[in-house]
Amino acid sequence: MANSLNSNSMYPVKHSLLAKSFHWGFVIIFIYGIYKQVQDIEQLEDNSLLRFELIFALIFIALLVIRFFYMKKTHQSSLPEDTPKIQKMAARIVHNSMYICLFLVPMTGISVGLFFAMGLKNSFLIDAFVGLHEFSIQAIYWLIGIHISAAIFHRIRKDGVWSSMVPFAKEK
Ligand code: HEM
Ligand code: HEM
Repeated sequence: MANSLNSNSMYPVKHSLLAKSFHWGFVIIFIYGIYKQVQDIEQLEDNSLLRFELIFALIFIALLVIRFFYMKKTHQSSLPEDTPKIQKMAARIVHNSMYICLFLVPMTGISVGLFFAMGLKNSFLIDAFVGLHEFSIQAIYWLIGIHISAAIFHRIRKDGVWSSMVPFAKEK
């Protein structure tokens, strides 16, 4: 207890400007990706759309890999030190699962695009990868829902976690 003054609730860990830029930049690119989503596999007949989708997904993955290693090397969660182990573990699982889905969505999309370009339009392979693509999208919606609920929970607790990443409605 003697060092409780050093706990993060007194001195919240701030994420760096680059960490925040990655976080919020990805929120924007991800929403854009959802917004301009392929509605129907027939759309991939359009070569320029197919090429655009593939390039978009490749850039997305490249940025994601850079973000992932940057965050792992330089950052820790800003959860206060005295957070129960189980809660720290839950946060780690949700964050890592989001990274996995953020990787799987474009990766399965690229597979669909490549199989389509190879002329395997009506194959089992394409169906399987479209299924995985849709599954990883549903999974990330759930994870983002849990993540935002947790962020709001921390905002209510005023433990510094919200303000370490969110630039608005900051705790005083
Ligand atoms: C597409 C939506 C989102 C994704 C995929 C996402 C993903 C992540 C990930 C992976 C982390 C861990 C740190 C990192 O590696 O960058 C994180 C941290 C964080 N996010 Fe999000 N996020 C999203 C949206 C939001 C929103 C809308 C809020 C708040 C309203 C939010 C609040 C936070 C906070 C407070 C942290 C810091 C948690 C900590 O330090 O332990 N996020 N987010
Ligand atoms: C970051 C990149 C991507 C994002 C965020 C994304 C997002 C989405 C979303 C939200 C859906 C709707 C899923 C549903 O209805 O449950 C979807 C479906 C689909 N996407 Fe993607 N996608 C990406 C990359 C790609 C790529 C690169 C391709 C192929 C070149 C692709 C091909 C498809 C196809 C074929 C469908 C299914 C359409 C149907 O239901 O017939 N996606 N995508």
